[in-house]
Amino acid sequence: MDKTELLNALADEIRVCPLCRLAETRTHAVPGDGEESAQIMFVGEGPGQQEDETGHPFVGKSGKLLMSELQKIGINRREVFITNIVKCRPPGNRTPLADEIAACNDWLSAQIALVEPKFIVPVGGPSLQTLVSKNLRITRDRSHVFRRDGILFIPILHPAAALRSPDTMKLFQEDIANLKKFLSREIGESEITDIAEVAPISKPAPDEDGGTLSLF
Ligand code: URA
Repeated sequence: MDKTELLNALADEIRVCPLCRLAETRTHAVPGDGEESAQIMFVGEGPGQQEDETGHPFVGKSGKLLMSELQKIGINRREVFITNIVKCRPPGNRTPLADEIAACNDWLSAQIALVEPKFIVPVGGPSLQTLVSKNLRITRDRSHVFRRDGILFIPILHPAAALRSPDTMKLFQEDIANLKKFLSREIGESEITDIAEVAPISKPAPDEDGGTLSLF
């Protein structure tokens, strides 16, 4: 099987995945879309209502905002790969629970292994913490470059947060502008944090006991 066939076969398995409780409430699983050999992969938190209805990622209000901002910096939806840390909509758009993220992790790892992106853009806190390190916080660590397993990660704020607050919208737009800068030049070694170097945070995030990852 070639890469396209492997990604399609993976998507078919994801569409019938029974591995966590989100399978019981989904309309459609949302495996992900895009270019099979994309240099850049965007990984969000999880499908919302419109994604659940259509089976495609980032097609709702926040997805449209992300795509229009990316268009402005010359990135087209068709040339990147877009997916989420969980492939099924959490009811009421709640943050995915730790066990749901863990159950879905092999799907995401397989997608990353097949696409082999040079850059991954974690969109929002849960994606950053899942993909890079639980010790990171999106509001502190956004627009920085991390490296793990040879892949460069450039986290950005979630567009849903930007839609809720004009101040966060400015920061989100700043993240997109920084993303453009990082993608258009050589990134120096001194700008890259290898994830082993990330210091543990001194106190637990407020929601850690609840088993969920915090959006910010
Ligand atoms: N749509 C998605 O597919 N993912 C998100 O994280 C938000 C909206």
